[in-house]
Amino acid sequence: MKNIDSRGHVRGESIYVDDMPVREGTLHAAVFGAPYAHGHIKRLDVSAAQRAPGVFTVLTAADIPGENQIGGIIPDEPLLAEDAFHFNGQPIAVVLADSEDQARAALEHIELEYEKLPVITDPREARAKGELLHPPRTFQLGDVDTAWAACSHVFSGRADSGGQEHLYLEAQGAYAHQVENGGVRVYSSTQGPTAVQRTAAKVLGVPMHLVEVDVTRLGGGFGGKEDQATPWAVMAALGALVTGRAVKVVLHRLDDMRMTGKRHPYSSDFKIGLDKDLKIVAYEASFHQDAGAAADLSPAVLERTLFHCTNSYFVPNVKTTAYPCRTNVPPNTAFRGFGGPQGMFVIEAAICHAAEQLGVRPEQIQKANLLSEGDSFPYGQKTVGCLAQRAWGQTEEQYGYAALLGKRDTFNAANRFRKKGIAMQPICFGISFTKTHMNQAAALVHIYSDGSIGVSTGAVEMGQGVNTKMLQVAAGIFSVSADRLKIETTNTTRVANTSPTAASASADLNGKALEKACDCLRDRLLEQAARELGRADTAGLSLKDNAVWADGAATDLSWERLVMSAYLNRISLSQQAHYATPGLHFDTNTEKGEPFAYHVYGTALYEVTLDIIRGTYAFDAVHVVHDFGQSMNPIIDLGQTEGGLVQGMGWMTMEDLLYDKEGRLMSNALSTYKIPDIYAVPKQMDVTFIDTEGAPLAILKSKAVGEPPLMYGMGAYFAIRDAIRAWRDTKAMAFHAPMTPERALLGLYPDFADEPVVDQEVASG
Ligand code: MTE
Ligand code: GUN
Ligand code: MOS
Repeated sequence: MKNIDSRGHVRGESIYVDDMPVREGTLHAAVFGAPYAHGHIKRLDVSAAQRAPGVFTVLTAADIPGENQIGGIIPDEPLLAEDAFHFNGQPIAVVLADSEDQARAALEHIELEYEKLPVITDPREARAKGELLHPPRTFQLGDVDTAWAACSHVFSGRADSGGQEHLYLEAQGAYAHQVENGGVRVYSSTQGPTAVQRTAAKVLGVPMHLVEVDVTRLGGGFGGKEDQATPWAVMAALGALVTGRAVKVVLHRLDDMRMTGKRHPYSSDFKIGLDKDLKIVAYEASFHQDAGAAADLSPAVLERTLFHCTNSYFVPNVKTTAYPCRTNVPPNTAFRGFGGPQGMFVIEAAICHAAEQLGVRPEQIQKANLLSEGDSFPYGQKTVGCLAQRAWGQTEEQYGYAALLGKRDTFNAANRFRKKGIAMQPICFGISFTKTHMNQAAALVHIYSDGSIGVSTGAVEMGQGVNTKMLQVAAGIFSVSADRLKIETTNTTRVANTSPTAASASADLNGKALEKACDCLRDRLLEQAARELGRADTAGLSLKDNAVWADGAATDLSWERLVMSAYLNRISLSQQAHYATPGLHFDTNTEKGEPFAYHVYGTALYEVTLDIIRGTYAFDAVHVVHDFGQSMNPIIDLGQTEGGLVQGMGWMTMEDLLYDKEGRLMSNALSTYKIPDIYAVPKQMDVTFIDTEGAPLAILKSKAVGEPPLMYGMGAYFAIRDAIRAWRDTKAMAFHAPMTPERALLGLYPDFADEPVVDQEVASG
């Protein structure tokens, strides 16, 4: 089944926030952001802006009736800065005017006097100065301190990975208007409708039941709208409440890039010890997370870095510590993988480093250490249905790893200025929110008297196809054709207290809740069918092909007649259900537990050709063997795999997010920030579905697919590095992603670097 949105998308008919017809008198917002990264506000004067043409009013912190607080995990972030600002672009005031142009023009008339304060953009500097969001956390398994003695080889080094701009096609936006009784309705492009509702209620000083949040769909979120859609929605709600008019806040791309947080850059140190058979005996790492200027989701992201610090490998002795470092850049936030990729990159770098020093191929170490059934992760959970070795083995065999290696060597011997590199990239990703309480969802199903069905869940459609999957769940249980179903907008008055659509878990969580609601309705309808058909009970009855079947044959009781009969007999045709993933627990004191419903595995094999003169590269092919369980929708799951993989390649190769030393975003537009286009996509992409049992906690045994493939992107970095290795030894080359052509050149010709290659910070200017 195709994504049910695809027709609307290609015809331009799908509705996003900015497409909604506006109400009469709608005001348009422009946000005034801090002009510098850190300062004390001495004077803020918006009176001239108030008088500018078309301006209705200018909101500042003084207009907030409730709490000026949008922080979720830690209450450390105001909606509008009051005494101080902590990052360049931090919202200070919101101009509301008749048109967007007028609102933007009025920004020029806002007067701000401030005293500059020191700016920190380096997480290591932040740690040294004690700028931590909370104390560091450590995950431990075995005993590293004694394990080093048992190692034949011990290596240490440093690995850095850059940030990543979400670049969802639809920028952040919301539209709000007042309803009676002091309430407000907010249409928001958010992954977290309940987060918007909760925060708007807090800021407006009203109970949550006065705030209704409605989401049709997002033009992409990728984590960037899990928490950071909230401020714009709350500004719209505040504006609506203060002015009595409808208010629209839609960010311009440049403001979106400047004002919102991104994937967290990490700077990490590692130490790895191996025995003579290349088994990893011990692994230690410290992760410096660049959290940005406020907590946002950073503590949860940090946790997932620790959960995934050993990727797909079994390491008996582990000690990893993570530092959430406060800097003066926009608060960094969720991004596909949620800290997992950053943790995994470090152990991949450690393995690659060890291989380079020992003169073996990294794949030898990777393969020797893949997880087996029953192995422990550093947090105590053991693997169940572990596919790490199977995926690796199948990749090697099916795509001819050994032959490709031979091809690489032959090509490299024959070509002086072009070199081929290859890399294998195994992944392992845990499915569930790491905060156990978030693993719950609800659904509400109405069957209308004509047999059509309306489905509401807490899931938000952002291109990942969750609405299509929800439709498949309900249509499957009722055995009715898809056109009888409508997936409703995600609305806080229909489904309350939702977790954000995140952690790749929304199809599982919402699908299971929906399954419960539909099962309940089906049972009730079958009881009515038994009465209609004059049978003692429902034994032998089922729903199939828009009708009731008895003992394997169709009856003349159609779906429509059954529903009408239930209605006439005053049987409820509506059902709500709630689902909570069973068996999850985690103790943050011991840092042990079973936080994940299951794990997703897979392996990618990359082939790249590097231009030795220019540092440019092209990916010849990527071959993937991925664990989908029993995919309920191979078209969508293939799209998620290819899209995630390419997005991961972007993070690892070309997306170079740069702030200058004053915390000003340098890569602030699409002219300076490059994401993969069709030319950057590997010329050949193969994805093999491993058909497996699936996991009982996966919806219809179809494993979560949203985030895991992103981590295949790491292989792109290591494949290019392998091509550099064919030109010169890389023993001293820093592990610094992204591997832009510039960094590839510095790897090829380290003598030309005018700065130490280990510290590749680009200067401001
Ligand atoms: N796919 C598209 N097209 N657009 C998106 O914004 N977000 C990703 C992934 N795939 C995203 C996407 C992220 S970060 C997550 S967590 C999952 O989808 C969320 O949806 P799911 O739980 O339904 O997989
Ligand atoms: N996105 C990916 N993983 C997680 C998670 O564990 N928690 C939250 N809040 N978002 C996520
Ligand atoms: Mo995804 S980063 O969990 O929104």
